[in-house]
Amino acid sequence: MSTRLTIVVGVTGGIAAYKAVGVIRALVLEGHSVHVVATDAALRFVGKPTLEAISRNPVATDLYEGVAEVRHVAIGQSADLIVIAPATANTIAKLAAGLADDLLGNTVLASTAPLVIAPAMHTEMWRNPATVANIATLRERGVTIVGPAVGQLTGTDSGPGRMVEPQAIVEAALSTVGRRVADTQSPDASSGDASSVRRDFEGCRILITAGGTREPLDPVRFLGNRSSGRQGVAIANAALARGATVTLLAAHLDVEPPAGVDVLEVGTARQLESAVKDASASADIVIMAAAVADYRPLEVREEKIKKSKTGERLILELEQNPDILAGLTASKRAGQVIVGFAAETEADPSALIEVGREKLERKGCDYLVINHVGWSEGFAAERNEVVMLQSGGDIVMEAFGSKLSVANRILDVIASR
Ligand code: C5P
Repeated sequence: MSTRLTIVVGVTGGIAAYKAVGVIRALVLEGHSVHVVATDAALRFVGKPTLEAISRNPVATDLYEGVAEVRHVAIGQSADLIVIAPATANTIAKLAAGLADDLLGNTVLASTAPLVIAPAMHTEMWRNPATVANIATLRERGVTIVGPAVGQLTGTDSGPGRMVEPQAIVEAALSTVGRRVADTQSPDASSGDASSVRRDFEGCRILITAGGTREPLDPVRFLGNRSSGRQGVAIANAALARGATVTLLAAHLDVEPPAGVDVLEVGTARQLESAVKDASASADIVIMAAAVADYRPLEVREEKIKKSKTGERLILELEQNPDILAGLTASKRAGQVIVGFAAETEADPSALIEVGREKLERKGCDYLVINHVGWSEGFAAERNEVVMLQSGGDIVMEAFGSKLSVANRILDVIASR
């Protein structure tokens, strides 16, 4: 991004505050002017000198300092973007309630800039109905919620609640401003509330499939794939932030879907097929990001397969699963938009696109998003590189970046239709 932005980074009191230093550093290195507003609790985790050295600006904490320059509103008024990382459950509750009992609360209330928050807390706190409701409130107001990720937490426990890595927060935050800039420059941009991100999917019902299906062999084993569901969940996040009503059909996700999305868990391809049939009837857009097993075991054993009985070799007989996407496009409603995905191992870019074109035609969808996958690329990664084809085979978009930024680019193409 070439524009130098004035960015306020709010740091609140969680252990992930040490990672806020990485967020601040990345924004400074991108050429932005960064002003840190830290809560008292944040300064118990990371020292003011560190935040000042990295941000290259004084750090503001106290509501009663700099009163003559009306600092409690001045910081917020001057911001092009506010990023709160980490955002604790307490701060999220205060933001949802509109409290202004510290400098950060005042800054947020006095600002019309986009607000991006990166929650970090223990899983129980993230799943607590109070936090779920607060997050839904913030999302409704146009706040961009980045994460949390699933992973190791402070103690020995792990689960959803870990703050997303600094680079992904920076990308999500800057892409929020990018969308705002695009909005204000577009001739049909609404002249109304400039404080929220573009709500260009308001009133739109989007069905997204994500993750990887699993086909049972016996009560304890399955045939599966390495899809983490990150790209599908990122699309759900982006669609929700842009005003859509989102239903997510989730097949074994490694990441937590955002609060505010209607989530239905599925296991096998055939379960996914029946859920897609039900949910697609009322969807305006269907995005099939899930990796669906092409085959399932012909026989699912009632008892665990034992090598003592099977011997040296085990031959599994498989039968084909239904192609859900092809079935969907065959019966699609007028005006419905259907997007398929193709994860392919072709290393040569033109061969990859050819495989995509052939698949697009065979499946009959409106768009196909192709990405290259390999032993270490694609599935569980935080970033993605995609080419998007439209019906007929033309390339309409190429993107590389965080899965959230790729998600927004995919939605941009659909929105431009
Ligand atoms: O054929 P392939 O698995 O590469 O196709 C990928 C696309 O088709 C994805 O959008 C996936 O969700 C969908 N698919 C499907 N039913 C299958 C296999 C894939 O809907 N049985």
